[in-house]
Amino acid sequence: MLPRCAISVCHVFVLVLCLSSAEDFDWTKNDHGSFYYGTFPAGFSWGAGGSAYQTEGAWDKDGKGLSIWDVFSHKKGRIQQNDTGDSSCEGYHKIKDDVGLMKELKLNHYRFSISWPRLIPTGIKSDHINEKGIQYYNELIDHLLENKITPIVTLYHWDLPQFLQERYGGWQNISMVNHFNEFANLCFERFGNRIKYWMTFNNPWSVAVEGYETGEHAPGLRLRGTGAYKAAHHIIKAHAKVWHTYDTQWRAKQKGLVGISLSGDWGEPVDITNQKDIEAAERYVQFYLGWFATPIFHGDYPQVMKDFIGRKSVQQGLGTSRLPSFSPQEKSYIKGTCDFLGVGHFTTRYITQKNHPSARSSSSYFTDRDLAELVDPRWPDPGSEWLYSVPWGFRRLLNFVKSQYGNPMIYVTENGVSEKMLCTELCDDWRIQYFKDYTNEMLKAIKDGVNVKGYTAWSLLDKFEWDEGYSERFGLYYVDFRNKNKPRYPKASVQFYKRIISSNGFPNQREVENWRRKAVETCSTSNQLLAAEEQRSTAANILRLIHDPLTSHMEMVTEIVVPTVCTLSILLSAVFLMFLLRRRN
Ligand code: NOJ
Repeated sequence: MLPRCAISVCHVFVLVLCLSSAEDFDWTKNDHGSFYYGTFPAGFSWGAGGSAYQTEGAWDKDGKGLSIWDVFSHKKGRIQQNDTGDSSCEGYHKIKDDVGLMKELKLNHYRFSISWPRLIPTGIKSDHINEKGIQYYNELIDHLLENKITPIVTLYHWDLPQFLQERYGGWQNISMVNHFNEFANLCFERFGNRIKYWMTFNNPWSVAVEGYETGEHAPGLRLRGTGAYKAAHHIIKAHAKVWHTYDTQWRAKQKGLVGISLSGDWGEPVDITNQKDIEAAERYVQFYLGWFATPIFHGDYPQVMKDFIGRKSVQQGLGTSRLPSFSPQEKSYIKGTCDFLGVGHFTTRYITQKNHPSARSSSSYFTDRDLAELVDPRWPDPGSEWLYSVPWGFRRLLNFVKSQYGNPMIYVTENGVSEKMLCTELCDDWRIQYFKDYTNEMLKAIKDGVNVKGYTAWSLLDKFEWDEGYSERFGLYYVDFRNKNKPRYPKASVQFYKRIISSNGFPNQREVENWRRKAVETCSTSNQLLAAEEQRSTAANILRLIHDPLTSHMEMVTEIVVPTVCTLSILLSAVFLMFLLRRRN
């Protein structure tokens, strides 16, 4: 990933970005350290999320078709440790358990995605609809609603039916627009009486760049300099078509909203006195979130993308820009197709101007931007290599959305932090700190006038983390992936997040400090349970090698998470193991 470069940071006063309509937010101020005690507007919606491929498992159950992620993850060398999402958290079989966890947190909403190949195995609606898949999502939705948890549904969280990839080249092909629209229409028809918040795509930036440019994600294509732009072009058209379908055929009856979930890091200029850095930082954000948001809110790509990619394409001797263009009809069809904007945000970068030569061979999305990304080595980075905790960047990004796109209604669809797989520490103090500071910056943004209506902690559970496999844990709940029953254990952050939710914010310093202390205290009990369980499962694994029928009996016992039982199991296992080993000898 990025070099952890040291940069000189006397960054107290920051840029005046060239933002014409930013009346409320003072971009020159940066009160990094201050904490704001106060509450969120009444009715603010607190949630947590996950996605189909990352949590469901049951990859080949009940008539589900293959997705590009099933195929990609089964290829050796693509995913850390060659992990797959085959069983993941077994969410497909654990609706009741997981809704129970959400109730424990007192969530207002839960964000999940629908697996396209679970409903339509080939991706083509006229081929076959899998009623068992429909039944699964019906049960999930009904169970959420019975428990007063609002479902927020994403139609595409990256798991394209493999058949569409093989036959048409996936998002490189315009035919995806109609197939996706048919799938969306099926979802509106079957679930729309109960779903009021739809999102067409999750983080299309990743789909385009990591799926078709760098190949780190499924389908693993490396079409540098063109693949990402083409995929994004079709995705934007598909989004618009689905919004119109809902608008003309379902809205009057179902009265729901259709948006899209876009991800964006914040980009801050390294040198705020350098106009080139200021422009580079703005370019960073425009090439990220603006790439998708600008067409959807204003009808066309950001001018800076058209300029940079167009100019480089000419220098490379190409007749047309590598960035495709929209016709005037398409522009007006796409403009305004967003009832609310989903924002996924995790981290920030410092940005400086850096020219990249325009050679055709080395052209890529990354070199098109003419910039370099830097990080401050003092930023905490407890988990994923790319994820530094920089709370103030969140407030800036939210204000950017407000000023650029006419203050749209926003739902934060993803925000959270990971830890490394080997870390079985449930006392996740650093996650508490991250949630506390990021939600506080969101509160400040709301005070700035940004129209944020809800927040989704990412994620409810530890889960399959794409090319990182299970090596990065984002969950509020720890999942023991080594146990085939995939038991969940609350991390300390569950207690803390629960308090933010029940107080709808931060009442005062004393109380908030108290929450934190209590959360960390209670997690040590869960830590002991987990440690005992791990010892037991290590013993059970050794036994499994020796005697299979005995082990399957032991697995059932593991369901009962009571320390005495665990301790007893460990003792019994040890005695039995010794007995077996002796007999063998
Ligand atoms: C964004 C993706 O949408 C989500 O699936 C993933 O878990 C997070 N990034 C963290 O990497």
